[in-house]
Amino acid sequence: MPNNEFGDFQTPRALAAKVFEVLPKKEWTRILEPTCGVGNFLHEAAGYAADAEIVGIEVQADYVDEARLARAEVIQADIFSMHLGQDVSWGKEGPLLVVGNPPWVTNAQLSRLASSNRPDRVNLRNLRGMDAMTGASNFDIAEFVWLKLISELQRHNPTISLLCKTQVARNILEYCSQFGLPISSASVHLINAKQWFDANVDACLFTVEVGTGPASYDCALYDSLDSVRPSRRFGVADGRLVADIDAYGEGHRVDGHCPLEWRQGMKHDAAGVMELVHLDGPHSRSGEPVDVEESHVYPLLKGTDVFRGRTGLSKWVVVTQKSLGEDTTQLAHTAPKLWSYLNKNAEALDGRKSSIYRNRPRFCVFGIGDYSFAPYKIAVSGLHKSAEFRLIAPLAGKPVFLDDTCYLLPFNDPQEAALVLALLRSKPAQDFFRTFTFWDAKRPITKKLLQKIDLGAVAAVCSDIEIIESAERSIREIGPLEAEKPLGDLFGEMKRRWVSTEAVATAEEQLF
Ligand SMILES: C[S@@+](CC[C@H](N)C(=O)[O-])C[C@H]1O[C@@H](n2cnc3c(N)ncnc32)[C@H](O)[C@@H]1O
Repeated sequence: MPNNEFGDFQTPRALAAKVFEVLPKKEWTRILEPTCGVGNFLHEAAGYAADAEIVGIEVQADYVDEARLARAEVIQADIFSMHLGQDVSWGKEGPLLVVGNPPWVTNAQLSRLASSNRPDRVNLRNLRGMDAMTGASNFDIAEFVWLKLISELQRHNPTISLLCKTQVARNILEYCSQFGLPISSASVHLINAKQWFDANVDACLFTVEVGTGPASYDCALYDSLDSVRPSRRFGVADGRLVADIDAYGEGHRVDGHCPLEWRQGMKHDAAGVMELVHLDGPHSRSGEPVDVEESHVYPLLKGTDVFRGRTGLSKWVVVTQKSLGEDTTQLAHTAPKLWSYLNKNAEALDGRKSSIYRNRPRFCVFGIGDYSFAPYKIAVSGLHKSAEFRLIAPLAGKPVFLDDTCYLLPFNDPQEAALVLALLRSKPAQDFFRTFTFWDAKRPITKKLLQKIDLGAVAAVCSDIEIIESAERSIREIGPLEAEKPLGDLFGEMKRRWVSTEAVATAEEQLF
């Protein structure tokens, strides 16, 4: 992904045909394919709307020649230097359909390719919402194409239906709502990009009606091109993109600020060196025992372990620092066996590609601090398709480390951890995740999302008995504790710290 600066993935004819089956049924008199490639959509359009005037635009000359075999006018041009409302002249009036599959390439990828196939800055400034989009560190060229089509063709009230990443569809809906672009309805049909394009990305057919009617930024989500009914609706509520609009009423009750700080697990980008397997102690992946100082090796759980609840000892991780940026040269004296192991594997460690390792202590890691060494943790995988929170207790007498696909909350007190776990597993919290999590994203659970769950509000709306019973069950699972406080007292203290009087009043109002 993608294969060149043109973000070139020609749509198979069979997929183009399916797209036309899904499109709103209308007597289209005009059809535009803004980046038509070899013309697969043009051919399908000609069969689908026999009397329609069909126009394609394409930048690559050899594709233009091929596309001209379809019954369509094909313009060889760079859409970034055209005004699509003014520079395409139509012989006919009437309903306009824009259909196709714009380039799959990001601004950052074009920079790496030193490509000029991108909108110039002056054109960007003329589009409403563009400043916000391009201000973001990276944006997809398809997002630019979307905003260009909506803005420049607005007076034609087009229906626009394009294959794109689902993330692009979400961003466009949010921008349109933020900048008042007139969308009257929208839908997303998920497609299997692996099957159709051999691309590992979440993709869809995104269709919007640009209209004069009342604006609506809700979007019906269909699980496939064959689905007849939407499985849910996402869209904008109170100015914010929401994954399940119909769950919003429940989910936003506890939407606010988490009183605890979520952390990401440890990042090292050298699994072959830093991750060890457990065979009566730490061993390399090829089965060799690894002899380094005990104080620098910790039990490790990865995202899939956490998601599946496999919380026993199966892996170890080498830990070179106690805090971010700590000088590692001292290891030569404080941990000579580790120092020799690191130097033996220096090629892999020094060759770590990510720029975060540049100008940093040699052999350093990220996602490390006091919190990493806390004995108890609540952990969740960021990459899986449901929020499975786990209570992690020490293994082999040591605190357990999580990898960087996980997020964690650190605790010294296991009872407090168990109570927080009970809150995160409660119905109000699960409603929050249903409302705000886009499960089709590459990393559905993020620190930003976790940081928005107001545990005080969750505690205020939950029944104390249910939370305490759930916490007791988790404590029994991790085994007997040395000293236990009455959980009711501990929960009471926690609530006093976190629950605002306002939240209690709102919760009471909801009860009566
Ligand atoms: C993802 S491919 C899709 C092609 C065609 N729409 C289809 O669905 O088969 C993107 C197409 O956009 C074309 N393209 C890229 N940059 C362009 C530009 N600046 N102006 C016009 N076409 C462009 C590429 O050459 C490529 O054919």
